[in-house]
Amino acid sequence: MKTIFRKITIVAALMCATAAQAGDGVTIHQLGDRNTMVRIDGDKRYLIMPVQESMPDAKVDILVNGNVRQTIFVRLADSQIDYTVPLDLAPYTRQGRVMLNIISEVDRTHSREASDFVCWEEMRLAEGFDSTNREQYRPAYHHTPLWGWMNDPNGMFYKDGVWHLYFQANPYGSKWQNMNWGHSTSTDLVHWTHQPIAIEPNGLGSVFSGSCVVDHNNTAGFGRDAVIAMYTSAGHSQVQSLAYSTDNGQTFTNYSGNPVIPNSREMRDPNMFWYEPTQSWVLLLANALEQEMVILSSKDLKTWTEESHFGKGYGSQFGVWECPDMFELPVAGTKQTKWVLVCNINPGGPFGGSATQYFVGSFDGHKFTCESPAYVSKWMDYGKDHYATVSWSGAPNGRRTVIGWMSNWQYSNDVPTQQFRSANTLPRDLALFMGEDGEAYVSCVPSPEVETLRGAVSAHEGTTVGAEAVAYSLPESGVCEIVLDYNLKGCTAMDIELRNDADERVVMTFDVAKREFAMNRAKSGIVKFSRHFPVTTIAPTHNSRMSGTLRLFIDRCSVEAFDGEGRFAMTNLVFPTKPYTNVAVRAQGGKAKVNGVKIYPLK
Ligand code: FRU
Repeated sequence: MKTIFRKITIVAALMCATAAQAGDGVTIHQLGDRNTMVRIDGDKRYLIMPVQESMPDAKVDILVNGNVRQTIFVRLADSQIDYTVPLDLAPYTRQGRVMLNIISEVDRTHSREASDFVCWEEMRLAEGFDSTNREQYRPAYHHTPLWGWMNDPNGMFYKDGVWHLYFQANPYGSKWQNMNWGHSTSTDLVHWTHQPIAIEPNGLGSVFSGSCVVDHNNTAGFGRDAVIAMYTSAGHSQVQSLAYSTDNGQTFTNYSGNPVIPNSREMRDPNMFWYEPTQSWVLLLANALEQEMVILSSKDLKTWTEESHFGKGYGSQFGVWECPDMFELPVAGTKQTKWVLVCNINPGGPFGGSATQYFVGSFDGHKFTCESPAYVSKWMDYGKDHYATVSWSGAPNGRRTVIGWMSNWQYSNDVPTQQFRSANTLPRDLALFMGEDGEAYVSCVPSPEVETLRGAVSAHEGTTVGAEAVAYSLPESGVCEIVLDYNLKGCTAMDIELRNDADERVVMTFDVAKREFAMNRAKSGIVKFSRHFPVTTIAPTHNSRMSGTLRLFIDRCSVEAFDGEGRFAMTNLVFPTKPYTNVAVRAQGGKAKVNGVKIYPLK
């Protein structure tokens, strides 16, 4: 007992000296057995914590006056500091004295003593946190978190002219962990303002994906026009919780009766909407491991009745079913509408890993009926980096606007960025069109607001191209939109190639006989971080004429391709070591007509 006591005091004294050097107001006590206590006595707002991504998570209990207020997991740096993350102390210091009780290396695969970690020397208090961009691959016009990890967009709603985008966020590192609801707002869908974290973990677990509705009629009793969120509390089990906001989604209060759905299976990602004919709320819940969606209904958002199930045996069944959505869409060229049930699936996507599938049919307030045979799989986007797509609740003018997470669970934690990880796709507006095979498909075009980003156009006149490529320059930054009008009657294929000075390329090909559009990113730049990355993705064009418009959106780490009428979309990440600065077009097996090329730098 005596020896242990002496060892503790000596180490503690040593570390206090180090802490004093690193920054006043932080006292570090090394207690041995990988346990460290960090006492905060300064009055600055943030504790800056050094992270090393290859480290396992340390468990950090945040204590206020000796009571655990929050537990977070941080990859505290052992031998090198990759970056730092801020812990906002304001909510805690207001209530009392703050101390962190840290257990390093909870999985014990590491052998060094925690007291030797480099993080203790650099842990310090600060008034602010520098989030200036340091990343080559941070997109210029896609939404990203300022720092830390992001996955699913969720809980999106539109109210009083503001688009609210919440997302799965880890503020304490750039890998998946500590799920909070991050929050950004926009008045035009393309310029985003970062807001404080909206919902953080509590005793029921971390805050997984969910949805928001505006309760115009105060059905839940939280107030007229209150914003009500339902999310999955992910602790030992997954249960569904409500939170409400009376300040337009800025801050949320958890409902005291949580969980409102204490289901016993692995169910998650509740998506709610108001169904006028039955004057009820309808909720879809992913029964993840059973590959089905459960449909429930409620009058007050608090008490839910199970109505039906959809999905057993339908579409792709190879992964877990997650992040559902359901809405009615007009069928182009008709007066008809049909219902679309969105089902994000991982793995099981057409090119491996994550993807968004959907089913078209009818809904009577209780049950969804798919109009296609069960074996039919339909995909909203044929790239590898389009997942967790859901729509905004209450979008104006009857619009159905969606946004996806621009990554894939196969490699999302390993892409070559550090300050932040992951962007959202461009926002897209949906409708339905009838395919030449008699099936109804979702059409997907960039939301019209995206056009407001266009700078001065470089317009190139029509020409005929053969085997020799015609090349067009792109802006130096590579950040642009390319609009290409084509007619492929006179050839068997057309290649469209994005290139840079480092001989890196993205090769896109229209195959006339197969009526397909493909994108090959095998030589697009940095690809080796995952064996699942260097691939070709292929989309049906739903266009036997093989003439039309191709729109390409290039940002620093992504290429999104859209058919002009939205008959296919394809989103792929790319990590070129230098920006792509030209696009080359050539035909195979004859001549292709390029009716015109427009290149817009995007702001
Ligand atoms: C989908 C998903 C959801 C879950 C969330 C957790 O990407 O797995 O099912 O709610 O991510 O972050």
